[in-house]
Amino acid sequence: MFETMQAAPKDKILALMAQYREDPRPHKIDLGVGVYKDEAGDTTVMRAIRAAEKRLHEAQDTKTYVGPQGDKAFCDEMGRLVLGDAVPSERLRICQAPGGSGALSILAMMLHRAHPNATLWLSDPSWPNHIPLLTTAGLKTQSYPYYDATTGSILFAEMLEALNTAQPGDILLLHGCCHNPTGADLNIDQWKAVADLCVEKQLVPFVDFAYLGFGDGLDHDTAGLRLLAGAVPEMVIAVSCSKNFAVYRDRVGAAILIARNSAEADAAFSHLLSVTRSVYSMPPDHGAAVVRLVLTDPELQADWQQELEEMRIRMETLRREFSDALRRASNSDRFDFIAGQKGMFSRLGLTSEQVDRLREEHGIYAVADSRINIAGLPGDRLDDVARAIVAIMD
Ligand code: LMR
Repeated sequence: MFETMQAAPKDKILALMAQYREDPRPHKIDLGVGVYKDEAGDTTVMRAIRAAEKRLHEAQDTKTYVGPQGDKAFCDEMGRLVLGDAVPSERLRICQAPGGSGALSILAMMLHRAHPNATLWLSDPSWPNHIPLLTTAGLKTQSYPYYDATTGSILFAEMLEALNTAQPGDILLLHGCCHNPTGADLNIDQWKAVADLCVEKQLVPFVDFAYLGFGDGLDHDTAGLRLLAGAVPEMVIAVSCSKNFAVYRDRVGAAILIARNSAEADAAFSHLLSVTRSVYSMPPDHGAAVVRLVLTDPELQADWQQELEEMRIRMETLRREFSDALRRASNSDRFDFIAGQKGMFSRLGLTSEQVDRLREEHGIYAVADSRINIAGLPGDRLDDVARAIVAIMD
């Protein structure tokens, strides 16, 4: 049977991760995969997570199944963290999922059951795994213009113009904050205009929320999403805890659905759980139990928030310092946009050949579309990185 199969196309980000690991050069720099790194270049376990894991280890006396929804208390905490009181609880249903990708997948499959002919609209560009993941779930996809690489700004008028051609029941994928790969986020007026469009055109927003707390802070990062959730009758949200709780390998996420009323929420949720059951039966417990312990203990929660804020401020500072270094190296303001963008990623605006030269000649790893992970920048070598970028642009 397998003799008929051609090798599947490689995922660009995962392939780069493997290539970096195999590179023996001691001064190599990883600006590829979206993983937070501290000043020493390490991705450590957060203090509150470590403390919660110890508690869980002492207290847990069974490993029996939890159930397809996962940890109910974790789900309630996720709802509070993401939505506050933006949506009445009778219209809201939440289940745990294996990471943000697991949440994206089960929500996409549930939406496909609800509306098999719907088109899902996503930004150009978007996270490279969005299209494979969403089409595997059965959805048709179409891009809307989003980003102008020459100015580092959002093409909002073009985005609205494209979405005006969407059909009722189509799905609109948005990045909740810290747009991946551009770092260019909608402002609150633009969120309001998108909410109005969704209501007018009867589009269902599907928000990928993977970087809560990495943009302008926990409260501010939810503002657009909460505005949208308060305005539209139906919406789904895929939440990831990978980055903001640094539990990447534990696969912790949540799938949130908002329906018109309680009866419709129950029906849609029954499909979400039936998709879950048919794909992986039940989500893994450990990471979600740990996150639940952090969010339900005031001391652990305060410590988590403080450490998250330290991470965010470090990335904001790196953005400013790196764009200053690029200004010095290039003697131009071409890269100034980096300072004002949000979260882990920005695009340098290089060709894939230039990105290859950066890797081959300087040991600096970026994704082929020239996306860099800001948190991967070594604070003490910013001028070196900036000079290398300018050198390969010749
Ligand atoms: C990224 O965009 O680098 C992260 O979301 C990791 C991944 O799975 O691609």
